[in-house]
Amino acid sequence: MDDFLFMTHHAGGSSDLMLLNPDHPGFLDQAYRKRRDAIAQLALSYRSGQAIPQVDYSSEEHMVWKKITERLAPLHQEHACSEILELQEVLSFSFENLPQLCDVNKKLERMAGFRMEPVAGLVSARTFLYYLGRRVFLSTQYIRHYSRPFYTPEPDIVHELIGHAATLTHPGIAEVNRLLGKAVSIASDVELEKIARVYWYTLEFGLVEERGTIKALGAGLLSSIGEIQSCMSMPLRDWDLRAMMEEEFDPTKPQTCYYVAPSFTRLLTDMSCWLRLGEWREQKSIYSISKS
Ligand SMILES: [Fe+2]
Repeated sequence: MDDFLFMTHHAGGSSDLMLLNPDHPGFLDQAYRKRRDAIAQLALSYRSGQAIPQVDYSSEEHMVWKKITERLAPLHQEHACSEILELQEVLSFSFENLPQLCDVNKKLERMAGFRMEPVAGLVSARTFLYYLGRRVFLSTQYIRHYSRPFYTPEPDIVHELIGHAATLTHPGIAEVNRLLGKAVSIASDVELEKIARVYWYTLEFGLVEERGTIKALGAGLLSSIGEIQSCMSMPLRDWDLRAMMEEEFDPTKPQTCYYVAPSFTRLLTDMSCWLRLGEWREQKSIYSISKS
């Protein structure tokens, strides 16, 4: 399991801050923990809508980014769906330098109205999804420990930028994200759980069919060297949002099943309908989500 990167998830936690567990690769590294605290402090001082604080990344942090992105690039060419590859060209991240959220936002805001705002650590599902409804993606800014560049037990800046950022330049994906947030703003706890599961099996770990082959779309796959390769040999389920609503997941382990959308377009249109029609509600009712 050493080099197998799997993701915990923004929407998988139960508290608004997460401390390092004893089995975290950086747990015994005091310098790393101090660095994590300093970056977390930037986020804690931040207020939504302000200018995004820049992180003065060290050469070691840039090197971790380079190691991961160089390894992922050919895997994306082989396994990522064509829409993702096109969107990645728009952002065209350098392997050499870890990007700043404020620079990424210049493109995101122009293309689909989203922005990334810093967060200190793992946030609750409700918080994370709620902010999507405001066209804000809560993003960590720290990077994983240098000793295990291909593994992280939690979302880090690699996951946010390599997994999510490009998708937020696409107006259709951005709109589905916004609708997810709008739904969560009125969802009960039971409904929230259903919405979080669908988010998990689509935008985090979704696959799509593309000219007879299966390709990766989800951020957890795009940012994982291990899972983007292994997912194709795991149980693949037919596209079924109702089934996803009932399918539990463990954010601390590699996935045991994946859902495959018939196409990128179907994924977006079906999710949009599912959200707009309130099919995630405990009691079906006429439901519409506001346009703004
Ligand atoms: Fe994520």
